[in-house]
Amino acid sequence: MRWIMFAAAVAAMLSACSKPAEPPAGQPHVVAANDIEAGRYLVMVGSCNDCHTEGFPQAGGNIPEAQRLTGRAIGYQGPWGVSYATNLRLLAQSTTEDGWVEILKTKPLLPPMPTQNISKMTERDMRAIYRYIHALGEAGGPEPDNLPPGVAPTTPVENMVPIPPKV
Ligand code: HEC
Repeated sequence: MRWIMFAAAVAAMLSACSKPAEPPAGQPHVVAANDIEAGRYLVMVGSCNDCHTEGFPQAGGNIPEAQRLTGRAIGYQGPWGVSYATNLRLLAQSTTEDGWVEILKTKPLLPPMPTQNISKMTERDMRAIYRYIHALGEAGGPEPDNLPPGVAPTTPVENMVPIPPKV
């Protein structure tokens, strides 16, 4: 009996080592058949594709899932310079699940990434998003590097600066 308990304790320790940290219990989260389905839902209603998938809003969302979240080569220009929406398909392969959560919670990201909202997502949902994007696999190439203010972009950009009305 003791041996069985010992073996169970070792097995539990080993699986605790290989699995990412469990998110705190009792926080709101999306309920779905599994984490990947929860992630698929959260990405869709969380509008991630609007910026991280080229042409998604213009196509009314009709972009095959295999091509989504590969980032954007059209920059967002504002007082911060020019930012390019990251290729999340590559990021999910090169980052651990814990690393992904750390980025969403704490990394200062340039506009228009809605960090002010997404950093408040509960950890379980952040992990579900990671698992979904990770399961989609690698696709696309790296997005262009962000540019500091005053550097002229060599890609098309969207102007994020309000234009005052002509008086
Ligand atoms: C309005 C546009 C917009 C929306 C909506 C948006 N993002 Fe972003 N996201 C960006 C931009 C632009 C960047 C690049 C910011 C930077 O490089 O500092 C970014 C960066 C990121 C990064 C950091 C990548 C890195 O290099 O560390 C992650 C992770 C991310 N987004 C995930 C998401 C997820 C998940 C959603 C949906 C829940 C989402 N984004 C919705 C525009 C957006």
